[in-house]
Amino acid sequence: MNQTEPKIKVTANAAPVVASVPRINISVFCTTQATISAMEQVVVDRRMTRAHVDVRNGGIMSAAQAFSEATTPDVLILETEGHRDQVLSELGQLAQVCDQSTKVVLIGHVNDVILYRELIRQGLSEYLVAPVHQLQIIDAISSLFNEPGADPIGRIMAFIGAKGGVGSSTIAHNIASLASGEYQVDTIVTDLDLAFGTAGLNFNQDPAQGIAEAIASSDRIDQTMVERLLTKCNDRLNLLSAPAQVEKSLGIEIDTLEPIIDAIRSSAPLIILDVPNLWTAWSKQLLTNADDVIITSTPDLASLRNTKNIFDFLTSARPNDKAPLIILNQVGVQKRPEIPVAEFAKAIGVEPTAVIPFDAHVFGTAASNGQMIDEVGPKSKASEQISMLGQLLIGKKTEVPAKGGRGSALAKLFPMLRKK
Ligand SMILES: Nc1ncnc2c1ncn2[C@@H]1O[C@H](COP(=O)(O)OP(=O)(O)O)[C@@H](O)[C@H]1O
Ligand SMILES: [Mg+2]
Repeated sequence: MNQTEPKIKVTANAAPVVASVPRINISVFCTTQATISAMEQVVVDRRMTRAHVDVRNGGIMSAAQAFSEATTPDVLILETEGHRDQVLSELGQLAQVCDQSTKVVLIGHVNDVILYRELIRQGLSEYLVAPVHQLQIIDAISSLFNEPGADPIGRIMAFIGAKGGVGSSTIAHNIASLASGEYQVDTIVTDLDLAFGTAGLNFNQDPAQGIAEAIASSDRIDQTMVERLLTKCNDRLNLLSAPAQVEKSLGIEIDTLEPIIDAIRSSAPLIILDVPNLWTAWSKQLLTNADDVIITSTPDLASLRNTKNIFDFLTSARPNDKAPLIILNQVGVQKRPEIPVAEFAKAIGVEPTAVIPFDAHVFGTAASNGQMIDEVGPKSKASEQISMLGQLLIGKKTEVPAKGGRGSALAKLFPMLRKK
């Protein structure tokens, strides 16, 4: 296991990226209210939607009894308040009924390194010390299914507009350009606006079939195929562009998109999803599952209403995540009545993260030339706001321990195991 080698990862001023849990059965036995409460948060988390989870009261012996007749699930999470000898003896009894393929995670109340070593020697998958946080549990479960040394999964930033034409794609592309340029983070822009997408135009690239081919072959898509479908803009920036054709009406299904997103995620540390202004099962799911969501809006009533609806929906669908960021764009069009920024913020309940003025010259020139805002108007207010947003979303590159295997989670729990 190569867990001590540091890898560069995007910090994006947020919690580390925790992978979704695959379609598995999980049974949980808890003995304390605190762990039950954490499990209640785990069950409603977006990363758990594929898994089936069953939470019961009880400890290791309750599990041993419950599974004396039934087959054990893919993962068993058990809480114990016992000490070393008791834990080992109870696990011995559980082993009599536990299927070999079942992975067992123990939540204990003693920080005992000898116990930990013995448990791992006996084949336990993970030992967490209570109190446990919901994300720590999800990370522990998903790490069980990520091969140690596997490629770290990329952070997904999804951009959506409150209406069409508010500038969501333009901002998404500019953030991608900053990430790959100034911050030197390998970035893939995925244009999901199949018929009308502008990523190719904005980056001055020839049209390509990228995402359309990915959808057509989603049953066998993998990292190698994704790499073949990418259009290279520069060393660190690639596009999975939309065909921008109207002859065929391409449908997108959730089941089609899921393997594509999984494959893209393992190809680069940062994925920018340019989501069209559509509210469909797949767009809802993509936004719900993204690591960061950025809603671009304009200061008018329809945008305000839509922003509030999208914001409220996502905030309640993602209880363990940061709230979506709001960008107020195209502010200050001459003679146009607008909702003032303060009123807009009050109605949504949060301040916009960036306020970008309407600047016909800078945006118009950028769009016509296939250039970025900081190339066309490096001193403009728009460029300053986009750069601030980039700093907030991408942050500085820092060194963090490599993900994968059980090392990362355990080092947090057993400080004495940490390599100096
Ligand atoms: N702040 C702004 N000032 C002037 N024009 C803008 C601004 N933001 C975006 N635009 C222009 O608005 C148009 C629509 O932008 P786009 O990013 O395609 O919107 P969306 O993806 O939300 O539909 C583009 O021509 C773009 O150049
Ligand atoms: Mg768009």
